[in-house]
Amino acid sequence: RPLVVAIDGPSGSGKSSVSKEVARRLRVAYLDTGAMYRAVAWDCLEKGIDLTDGALVEAAARALELELSTSPDHERVLVRGTDATDAIRDPRISASVSAVATNLGVRDELIRRQRALISEHGRRIVVEGRDITTVVAPDAEVRLLLTASEEARLRRRGAQLGGTQSDEQLAQQVLERDAKDSAVASFTRAADGVYTVDSSDLDFEQTVTAVLGVVHA
Ligand code: CDP
Repeated sequence: RPLVVAIDGPSGSGKSSVSKEVARRLRVAYLDTGAMYRAVAWDCLEKGIDLTDGALVEAAARALELELSTSPDHERVLVRGTDATDAIRDPRISASVSAVATNLGVRDELIRRQRALISEHGRRIVVEGRDITTVVAPDAEVRLLLTASEEARLRRRGAQLGGTQSDEQLAQQVLERDAKDSAVASFTRAADGVYTVDSSDLDFEQTVTAVLGVVHA
């Protein structure tokens, strides 16, 4: 039977690692939609496309040759056959991805591809992002917003980056991107019928358990 688990949330909420683990335990596919926006940003920077040129950025998204692994066990992002799995996580991409994500033509194209991927997997998939519960799959069997306090999110992102950033740098990166993202997707408040899991005081395992609890509710 179909089981689409739609998970939205801000940066540092633990969304990606938790979503992956939930997909593993449910033995379904996993789709990281953020990786798709990052892939468009990476492709544009590689091609020297000015990210403020909306028409060019949209055209790049429509033409993007993207191969994305939907296995929760190995992350792989191929753009035009080139492995960009690590490159799309570069701080340079994190800093420019919002410019791509606010482009409505880009969103239209990526949402279309995301819906196609959900169908291709027989609607047995965990999909995570910013607009999954509201736009990409409002008809998902399970819809969930994973939140965490600003303090918890900054702490996690800092640990993830190996303590290489100052507190100011981190706050700037995380909070600025949240502010830009909230212009296109309202992931800070749960829409009607969407469960909220607040992970501020939960560790990884507890968060996974809480999400699985919602899935099995
Ligand atoms: O680094 P983090 O996990 O917070 O972000 P991500 O999930 O890799 O997503 C990167 C960026 O893609 C976000 O900052 C958004 O600008 C954009 N995004 C979006 O607009 N809609 C989605 N469904 C997923 C990501």
